[in-house]
Amino acid sequence: MGESILIHGGAGGVGHVAIQLAKAIGARVFTTVREANFEFVRSMGADVIIDYEKEDYVDAINRETDGRGVDVVFDTIGGNTLARSPDALAQLGRVVSIVDIAQPQNLVQAWGKNASYHFVFTRQNRGKLDELSALIERGQLRPHVGAVYSLADLALAHARLESPNNGIQGKIAIAVVPSLLTSAELTPGESHDL
Ligand SMILES: NC(=O)c1ccc[n+]([C@@H]2O[C@H](COP(=O)([O-])OP(=O)(O)OC[C@H]3O[C@@H](n4cnc5c(N)ncnc54)[C@H](OP(=O)(O)O)[C@@H]3O)[C@@H](O)[C@H]2O)c1
Repeated sequence: MGESILIHGGAGGVGHVAIQLAKAIGARVFTTVREANFEFVRSMGADVIIDYEKEDYVDAINRETDGRGVDVVFDTIGGNTLARSPDALAQLGRVVSIVDIAQPQNLVQAWGKNASYHFVFTRQNRGKLDELSALIERGQLRPHVGAVYSLADLALAHARLESPNNGIQGKIAIAVVPSLLTSAELTPGESHDL
């Protein structure tokens, strides 16, 4: 409660849910996206939106927090985020990463912040799913489907997901039942809130 969090990649499949979960527990949310996704992450509840193509996020966080930094950095993008996070962290801040570490990173700056690092591989369990269902029912969590592909086009869906600036907001859904693709609720290429 009352903490602040930087969520990298706020328009992504994980990021847009992370924004909503952080808001649901009372955090102040900073997020990095490209400009085309500003309105989307604002509608998810983001408080401070940083255009990662135009501004360095460390500078933006320090400006917006008067140099204090955020309590938590949530890394969904990788690169050198682990090494740079201490520059955007408050004292005793936490860094949570869900991505592979593609290259060794120098964490020497973490000492100065007494920072902790958490590496998370998510596992579904009934308790967590029940809590998510409750948030959805209360209107505090709105999973967003940015595109729908048929099962036959699974490879196309993966290729699009893996290309940068792919225009997808939220998740890609795969319609296992072909008739869903022609229904009014799920139209390929359109956006949907579930
Ligand atoms: N550990 C686990 O249990 C777990 C679970 C789920 C996912 N993951 C991993 O988490 C990562 C994210 O998954 P996802 O499903 O959210 O992927 P995604 O839907 O592709 O989202 C990634 C987002 O990051 C944005 N992005 C790319 N470069 C960026 C940068 N430098 N700064 C800010 N945003 C940037 C992308 O948008 P633009 O390119 O348009 O900017 C996109 O919106 C993947 O590597 C996935 O494998 C791990």
